[in-house]
Amino acid sequence: MSGFNFSLDPIENFVILLNEAVEHKMPDPNAMALATVNIENKPSVRIVFYKGMIRDGFSFYTNYNGRKAQDIAHNNNVCVNFFWSQLERQVRIEGKALKTTRAESEAYFKTRVRESQLGAWASEQSQPLESFETIEKRYQELNTKYANQEIPCPPHWGGYIIVPEMIEFWFGRTGRMHQRYRYQRNGTSWAKSFVNP
Ligand SMILES: Cc1cc2nc3c(=O)[nH]c(=O)nc-3n(C[C@H](O)[C@H](O)[C@H](O)COP(=O)(O)O)c2cc1C
Repeated sequence: MSGFNFSLDPIENFVILLNEAVEHKMPDPNAMALATVNIENKPSVRIVFYKGMIRDGFSFYTNYNGRKAQDIAHNNNVCVNFFWSQLERQVRIEGKALKTTRAESEAYFKTRVRESQLGAWASEQSQPLESFETIEKRYQELNTKYANQEIPCPPHWGGYIIVPEMIEFWFGRTGRMHQRYRYQRNGTSWAKSFVNP
């Protein structure tokens, strides 16, 4: 638990632990499982990449027409989970998802490699696909269309930030004597507690 300090803000602690996961070469250290619920209150979970803190929210980017976006439009309570297996560490974050501003989405889109920018245009995320050739053809057409040009951020593509309401850190220990540290938002501060493993 090298850098973790319970007296620090949970977001500061998260940043410390993510940096440690990067230093220890965890595979995809910024991959997080994102859980949403749909209009029928049925849950769904998938991996997305965390892309940094924006206004004290955990950001990720996606297609605003996809399944997760439809879930969030109906109910913006979400939960994400980071698991760094070899370090025996887990971080669970519950909160509300809010769209990033258009300027924030465009700024991030510019940093993406051209192939990913084309992919954002080519993919009608979560919609049925007739065949893999269909999307490959669309990708090649877009590649021609935007040859030698900057690719604009699609209107249906952008980010979310998850504004945390609860953050829980889990550190694995022998004998299942794991340590759990919970921070619950209480207005502008955080209520802290230990939790049984
Ligand atoms: C390692 C990994 C990283 C991923 N990162 C993202 C991401 O940052 N954004 C995204 O929209 N999908 C990402 N995906 C794909 C999602 O898991 C998912 O298939 C896709 O977003 C569609 O989800 P939905 O139908 O629930 O909207 C990633 C998948 C993996 C395995």
